[in-house]
Amino acid sequence: MELLLIQSQEHDKLPIAELNAVLECENIPANVNKICSGLVLLDFLDNEDFYDNYKSLVERLAYTHEIDEIIIKSDINNFKKDILNIDWNQYIDENFAVRVKRFNSGIDTVSYEKDIGYLILNSFNKDNIKVKLENPSSLIRVLVFENDVFIAIEKFKLNKKHFQDMKPHKRPFFYPGSMSPKLARCMVNLSRIKKNQLLLDPFCGTGGILIEAGLIGSKVLGSDVNWKMKNGTGINLDYCDISDYKTFHVDVRELKMYEKVDAVVTDPPYGISTSTMGISSDKIFYQFLESIYKNMKHNAFLCMASPHYLDLNNMLDKIGFELVEKYEIKMHRSLTRIISVIRIKE
Ligand SMILES: C[S@@+](CC[C@H](N)C(=O)[O-])C[C@H]1O[C@@H](n2cnc3c(N)ncnc32)[C@H](O)[C@@H]1O
Repeated sequence: MELLLIQSQEHDKLPIAELNAVLECENIPANVNKICSGLVLLDFLDNEDFYDNYKSLVERLAYTHEIDEIIIKSDINNFKKDILNIDWNQYIDENFAVRVKRFNSGIDTVSYEKDIGYLILNSFNKDNIKVKLENPSSLIRVLVFENDVFIAIEKFKLNKKHFQDMKPHKRPFFYPGSMSPKLARCMVNLSRIKKNQLLLDPFCGTGGILIEAGLIGSKVLGSDVNWKMKNGTGINLDYCDISDYKTFHVDVRELKMYEKVDAVVTDPPYGISTSTMGISSDKIFYQFLESIYKNMKHNAFLCMASPHYLDLNNMLDKIGFELVEKYEIKMHRSLTRIISVIRIKE
């Protein structure tokens, strides 16, 4: 079986990187086929756990807007005939809506929606099936890419509202400088953390990263040199009903975890001398990496943000880390944020 993913186009590499990381850590055997920016086909090599795997992707991914199960693949000349050959009873039991999205195509999506809706409605011999445009019980998604037409159905809904509701200023404890929940979730995914595993953010601030990790079921640990931040993280985690957490008031350079962790995801301070306690950012990054190395399991991943001007490669090499992946996010004219995925050298 195949899934069709509609992804965010706000970054050219992160949505696919996030998807690949989740497939890897959830052990989902699938071929990823990027059709164009924003559109990905996922071909499952093993269909036995198809719906469990589909659900895991829905629960975890941040830069994917929608995931649909493909019913048929057709083309612009044949799709109407093909739609009539589908047994729609398998997919629709009450009401439905058709939504058409186009990529590299000039089709009129509104008239496609009407025509396809009409064809589906007429293929039923019972008249209790209705079209319902708002909150339909079945959403039929039609994707048109150049001459290809994909007919699919949404079985599990992504909670897109979460990333709006969890914006830093909407949480009970707020302090400027927290990253967007979407990027935080993406970084958590890039760290390959699994449910019930231990994830640490040693510069936890207001807890934005830990919220995202806690929501996908990992056990979270947060520490910060500022006790107000340490307490604020607890307030925000409680607000999100995350209970499997511990927070510590500690300088990252003194960090000694009672148990080595499965992943570290963090956004260390840079630029503003108050947030680095007056220490240069080069020094804080180096000392952080040295300290965190001792607190990570050998196969753990570290996903971190850093400014473009920091010579991270040199530091990683000296300490015994290696870079796995690296992505650039342009913040403004003079700052590019680098998201790095790092692990301990073999
Ligand atoms: C960029 S903020 C982290 C933001 C966080 N991701 C959030 O969602 O709010 C950096 C945090 O590092 C903390 N910090 C600075 N120096 C530190 C140190 N030496 N050890 C531990 N925490 C430190 C600051 O108090 C601040 O809360």
